[in-house]
Amino acid sequence: MVKRQSRFVCQNCGAVTTRWAGRCDNCGEWNSIVEEASTADIMTAATGKAARTKGRRLELSSLDAPIAAEPRVITGIGEFDRVTGGGIVPGSAILIGGDPGIGKSTLLLQAAAALARRNHRVVYVTGEEATAQVQLRARRLGADTAPVALAAETSVETILETLGAGPAPTLVVIDSIQTLHTSVAEASPGTVTQVRASAQALIRYAKLSGAAVILVGHVTKDGQIAGPRVVEHMVDAVLTFEGDPSHAFRLLRGSKNRFGPTDELGVFEMTGGGLAEVANPSELFLGERDTSTPGAAVFAGMEGTRPLLVEIQALVTPSRLGTPRRSVIGWDGARLSMILAVLEARCGVALSAHDIYLAVAGGLRIAEPAADLAVAASLISSRAGVALPADVVYFGEVSLSGRVRAVPHAPGRLKEAAKLGFRGAIVPPQVGAGIDGCATSEVALLVNLVHRIAPAGFADERQSTFSGDD
Ligand code: TYD
Ligand code: MG
Repeated sequence: MVKRQSRFVCQNCGAVTTRWAGRCDNCGEWNSIVEEASTADIMTAATGKAARTKGRRLELSSLDAPIAAEPRVITGIGEFDRVTGGGIVPGSAILIGGDPGIGKSTLLLQAAAALARRNHRVVYVTGEEATAQVQLRARRLGADTAPVALAAETSVETILETLGAGPAPTLVVIDSIQTLHTSVAEASPGTVTQVRASAQALIRYAKLSGAAVILVGHVTKDGQIAGPRVVEHMVDAVLTFEGDPSHAFRLLRGSKNRFGPTDELGVFEMTGGGLAEVANPSELFLGERDTSTPGAAVFAGMEGTRPLLVEIQALVTPSRLGTPRRSVIGWDGARLSMILAVLEARCGVALSAHDIYLAVAGGLRIAEPAADLAVAASLISSRAGVALPADVVYFGEVSLSGRVRAVPHAPGRLKEAAKLGFRGAIVPPQVGAGIDGCATSEVALLVNLVHRIAPAGFADERQSTFSGDD
């Protein structure tokens, strides 16, 4: 007789301990540890006997053995196919995370319909809505005529039984993994154990049947896929659907992909008739530009293999507070502090008595260090009260010594800038003479850029020094 053992699982990160504690040692979350049945118990419950079977002998293979080419299934939604790495791989499991209401169900219903129209069998299982709600949405999207098989169900056993009855589908969409429950695990629905056991069963189904399975996962307020952090390790690809709810566009990003690149970006626009693909996102992100105001600089960025131009906006105003405000949207706050320190220490631009607001236009989030130069340009421009030339882009990394360093993909960035009518680019040294239509101007030190933008210095510099002395 197996002695029933309890274990304690953090519902935030999935860490397992043998004792209960008020705070998880692994992730630091309070009150997140819950008692659950041990894995051995789960296995016993699943199989009716202790989980000890005799292994079989495997045929070992060599690394250079011929491989069957992975056929990929293309949905026809270009932005979606790009992020999955050129289509969905049969038998793979994909997790899509995102805030509630961002449009995950809409995206997947559209992808399901597109695939079904290409004569693939697609099953859409919703655990959150009634079938009527999904039908209404499909009608609104003009997808109701696509032969998608629809079910509203939350029991994993029932779902697997239903899927097993027909021919293996090409794609199964599960919306969402948090609503599922399986009798294999004893814990209540929504707990890490349930989510993990449900995901495990569906992933096993994917591997055995060759059907691709897409799991929708909710995201907590701090941006993690709630509970199933653990699921991220189990699936083949993790995609995030994000966007500023006050803007129409939505970004699909890969953060893990066993079958393709992870840095691709898909851009969609939420319209009355569902999500529309945005083929040229730079035009969209530069759409509402006001070129006469100081503090705006256009950054020639890269998202994966795709160049993307976006406006960086800065507002630098004298502060009335003892500790000036620093507020950043769409960029890394620590990186901003670094640029501010370099401007102060290496370029003589006084900023410590100023409130600073920085925003990436359009709700985009930038992680590239290449944005340093554009951020610095927008800060200097706002501080000096001088608008930057409207037809110039910026890219380059700034080091702590105040040097401007080279970044990858310079030709791609320049090509995109030229395509959108930009005539010049401020770039790191050794980029070269630029391309037809977009001339480059190299800056080796950030202080050179300061002199170029504000050759007359900063009008209020002396004044602010005096008031500081008072
Ligand atoms: P939904 O796909 O339900 O989000 P999620 O599954 O991520 O929670 O999308 C809900 C939002 O999308 C809702 O606020 C309305 C909006 N929407 C449109 O603007 N146009 C449409 O055609 C559809 C279907 C939804
Ligand atoms: Mg939904």
